[in-house]
Amino acid sequence: MNNILVVGGAGYIGSHTVKYLMKNGCNCIVADNLIYGHKEAVLTDNFILADLLDIDSLLNIFNNFSIDAVIHFAAFAYVGESVINPQKYYNNNVVGTINLLNAMLSNDVKKIVFSSTCATYGEPKYTPIDENHPQNPINPYGKTKLMIEQIFADYEKAYGLKHISLRYFNAAGCSADGDIGESHDPETHLIPLVLKAIKEESYSLKIFGADYDTFDGTCIRDYIHVDDLAQAHYLALKRLDIYNGCINVGTGIGVSVKEIIHAAEKISGKTCPIEYCARRPGDPAKLYASNDKAKKILNWEPKYIDIKNIIQTAWDWEINRKF
Ligand code: UFG
Repeated sequence: MNNILVVGGAGYIGSHTVKYLMKNGCNCIVADNLIYGHKEAVLTDNFILADLLDIDSLLNIFNNFSIDAVIHFAAFAYVGESVINPQKYYNNNVVGTINLLNAMLSNDVKKIVFSSTCATYGEPKYTPIDENHPQNPINPYGKTKLMIEQIFADYEKAYGLKHISLRYFNAAGCSADGDIGESHDPETHLIPLVLKAIKEESYSLKIFGADYDTFDGTCIRDYIHVDDLAQAHYLALKRLDIYNGCINVGTGIGVSVKEIIHAAEKISGKTCPIEYCARRPGDPAKLYASNDKAKKILNWEPKYIDIKNIIQTAWDWEINRKF
């Protein structure tokens, strides 16, 4: 299995995965509409400007390339926006995926690795969260990802689709050699905003709630390095013949907002100006993964366990950004 179509391959996790796959002997064809992705992040010449809502541009890819499997990252992923404008999310994420599946099946391509999320679980009933945890997403973004997981299961039964959905926890960090990294516009994620506050005197980090039922009052998340996520996609591609279903990808370690700030201050040697604010709606106090299944099925093991090492790669990128 060598020719991999990476849809959404100009985005943060997609571009790191393309880099990892190419290093490991895969030939990547990257398709992206570049609405949020960066052309500079695509480290192959095999780039096609395409949108999942444009069926002709999709069919064109399958006509021009022989594809063995697809990795699908193309999605809108702003939780807050998905509540205000669900139409945008159901259209792009769900309809777009159905278009992609139609194009795949009509070209007899039946293997897909999909970028799902811990947001499909909703408010956690217990931690660590394993794959059997009930799925009750509390926003349209999480619902779109759950719907797609369910579509895959039906397509497996009816058409023999082979699929693995990787449920990411909080993707973090950047390529260790600094050639690609995290660049969102708008940026909403904690680590890049902490580093921005450290770098730019005029900006202070807003802590969304310091009254949670956690050891220091701030929210706990499971930050997984983007290169560890990339490796999980590579391993998932190789397991599609023997396993179909959903797998968590996280370190299994919970880190609080304050711990992130302290680690970033240590690494940069500078202070992060902070402002205490109200809780952000829909933020659970604690989210961290059980990653036993990823270890067992994918033979995957995260290399970045210490949050300091993850933040170091993000800081190196932040002070020498290429895009
Ligand atoms: N936070 C702040 N200040 C900020 C930004 C974030 O205090 O300026 C806090 C949040 O309240 C949260 C933690 O930092 O407790 C992490 O927030 P992020 O926005 O970085 O990440 P989320 O946990 O909200 O979101 C991530 C993914 C989503 C996914 C979600 C699942 O980015 O795509 O996990 O819960 F849907």
